Amino acid sequence: MSDTRPLFSLVVETERAVSEITSLRLFEAGAAGLEEGDTTEGARFVAYTEDADELERFRTALTELRGELEQRLGRQPKIESRVLTDRQSTWRTEWKRYVRPVALTERIVVRPVHIEADAEPDWPRNTTTIVIEPSFAFGLGHHATTRMTARRLEGWIERAPDSTVLDVGFGSGLLSFVALIAGAPSVDGVEVDPVALDAASTNADLNGLGERCRFSIGAPEDFARPFDLVVANIDADTLMRLSGQLLDRLVPKSGLLIVAGIPSERVDEVAAHYGARGGRETHREVGPDWALLELARHQPKVCP
Ligand SMILES: C[S@@+](CC[C@H](N)C(=O)[O-])C[C@H]1O[C@@H](n2cnc3c(N)ncnc32)[C@H](O)[C@@H]1O
Repeated sequence: MSDTRPLFSLVVETERAVSEITSLRLFEAGAAGLEEGDTTEGARFVAYTEDADELERFRTALTELRGELEQRLGRQPKIESRVLTDRQSTWRTEWKRYVRPVALTERIVVRPVHIEADAEPDWPRNTTTIVIEPSFAFGLGHHATTRMTARRLEGWIERAPDSTVLDVGFGSGLLSFVALIAGAPSVDGVEVDPVALDAASTNADLNGLGERCRFSIGAPEDFARPFDLVVANIDADTLMRLSGQLLDRLVPKSGLLIVAGIPSERVDEVAAHYGARGGRETHREVGPDWALLELARHQPKVCP
C-alpha cells in the first residue's frame, strides 16, 4: 500500500468503567494493533487504518456501543472519538513503541521485546517473563480476557503438569506460553489468522519455546486425538459455533474446556448452549465485562 494514501487515526477517549469493552469492540471491528494508554479519567485508544470503510466500521462500532451502554447504565457513557489524517506516517512501526510490560498472572509478566529487561517496573520476585514482538495479532497481555484465561489455565496446569493442551485461537501465543511455563510438556495451537501464526511462531522462538509449540492454521476438528485441556479465548458467537468441535476434543470424563472472551451479559446464553450439547459446567468466572466458563463433557462418546 502506498504511503501517500491518507492514514486515519481514530483517537478514542473513554471513562474507566467502559474502557475494556471499548477496546474489545474496536478489536472486533477489525482494529489490529490498538495503541492503548491511561488517562486521568480512564483510557485512550488509537486505532489506525488506511481504509475509509474500515474507519467507518470502527465509528459504527462505537456508536452502537454508546447506545448499548446507555441502556445498560441508564446514562451516557464517556466514549469520545476524533479522526486525524496523516499522509506521512510511519504508523506500521510507531504504535509498537507504546506497548508496555504487563503482569499476566501473579507469576508471569509479558514484556515487549523493545523494552529493556531492567527497565521493567518492579515486578514481584519469582516472576517469569514472556517476551513478545508486538504485532497485529491479538494478545499483548493487556486484555482482561487474556489475563482471566491465563490465570485459570496456569492454575490447572500447575495441578496437572502432564496435561496435553490445545489452544484454539492462539493469537500471539500467550496462553500457549503460559501453559508451557506452568509445566505442560508441549502445546498444540490452531488459528484462522495467518498473521497470528507468524506472530506466535516468532514469539515462541523469542522465548526458547519453539520446539514445544505446534501452531497451525485450521480448525479444532483437525486433531484426531483428544486433549486433557482445551482453551479457547475467542468470542461468544464463535465459541457457540465451535461448541461441538471443542467438546469433542476433550479426553472423555477427565478433559476440561476453558472458554473465554464471553461478554458477561451473555454467559448464561453460552452456558445453556454448551449444556444442550453435552457440556457440564464445572466453574464460571464473571467479571464486570467478561466471563469465562469451564466445562467437562457429560459422557464419553459411546462407540456403536
Ligand atoms: C481474542 S483473541 C485471543 C488471542 C489469545 N489466545 C489471547 O488470549 O490473548 C481470539 C483469537 O481467535 C482467533 N479465532 C477467531 N475465530 C477462530 C476460529 N474459528 N478458530 C480458531 N481461531 C479463531 C482470532 O484470529 C484471534 O487471534
